[in-house]
Amino acid sequence: MKRRNLIVGAAAALTVGQLVGCARVDRTETGSVTTSPDQAPARQPRPATPPPVRALRSAASSRGLYFGAAIQAGTLGDSRLRSIVVRDCSTITPEWAMKWDALAPGRTYNFSEMDQLASFAARNGLAMRGHTLLWHKSLPSWAASALASSRDWAIIDDHFSKVIGRYGNQVREWDVINEPIEPNHGGRGLRNNQFYKAFGEDYIERALESARARAPRARMVINEYGLEYNSGYEGQRRLSLLRLLERLRSRGAPVDTVGLQAHLDLRKGTVYADGIYGLMRDIRNMGLKVAITELDVAEANTGLSVERRDSLVADETRRYLDIVLQFNNVLGVSTWGLNDSHSWLRTQRSSANRGLPYDREWQAKPMHNAILTAFA
Ligand code: XIL
Repeated sequence: MKRRNLIVGAAAALTVGQLVGCARVDRTETGSVTTSPDQAPARQPRPATPPPVRALRSAASSRGLYFGAAIQAGTLGDSRLRSIVVRDCSTITPEWAMKWDALAPGRTYNFSEMDQLASFAARNGLAMRGHTLLWHKSLPSWAASALASSRDWAIIDDHFSKVIGRYGNQVREWDVINEPIEPNHGGRGLRNNQFYKAFGEDYIERALESARARAPRARMVINEYGLEYNSGYEGQRRLSLLRLLERLRSRGAPVDTVGLQAHLDLRKGTVYADGIYGLMRDIRNMGLKVAITELDVAEANTGLSVERRDSLVADETRRYLDIVLQFNNVLGVSTWGLNDSHSWLRTQRSSANRGLPYDREWQAKPMHNAILTAFA
């Protein structure tokens, strides 16, 4: 277990102003002060200010990793968000704007929202994750109908050309296929999605080849969820993913990175260390890289105090990262948002979930500290 850095809990509750403003704070020496009786009492030493909470990107970089977060284009108007993203992140993931049905709900593409994110990234020297080219939940109905009727791969090639052609020079990792695994669908554990129905399992290799042809220097990623806990179902998911990767590798398919979404969930108990370790070991032994792509923690146990909830979230985050960061093929960690008020989990549950590094007031929570110390 890595050295634990104890960053004072209080520091983790700094406001964004203190975080951003205290990029460099010189601590005043508050040693003992001696004065002779006839002198005015010495100036009272300033109260010790908590040490600046280190930027997540800086801590990650010290390990040769990146730290990033998913960002919604609509939140770019929030100056506090912008300052925190620029301070903490070296890469961003478009949470929605790059998805097929966000870009082209009808046949006409509208890149305006995605262009806003891309411009923000470019202006601030941030890379982007290309999320995501093929996902069964973001295939616009016109494309689904066309694929079902024509089974014409040109539909997919055209989409890849448009998206990769426009953003490819800013994207280092493309989530080419998102969530291809579903053991309950049979078919060697593959999801029977619209692409599988149209082209069979080959769609995965063909998509990787189409993306690689358009983005020869970027990493080709298969991104998956539901791999972290000790259940028969998640065990099947881990096995199905590994078997898919083995088949792809044996055929020389251009997959070089596995995206582990890492949507942790306290309702499932604590993360299954042996299962995650085994998955990471087998992925590494295939010569593949790993990106942690969508880290957050479902909790929303409103029966507990906020302090307790935040502590449980931080502990689970640290447990998970302590396992995966033992492996030197990890490229980086991205959370699925930064601020609880933007979390997709907010819409999944009755009450606001507290599963991201900052609370709705942009105060860094213990989860922020857990990520920071996991990088140490
Ligand atoms: C989610 C977004 O966060 C939501 O805002 C949207 O309504 C649905 O998609 N796994 C993924 C992400 O790969 O693309 C999903 O993002 C969350 C689950």
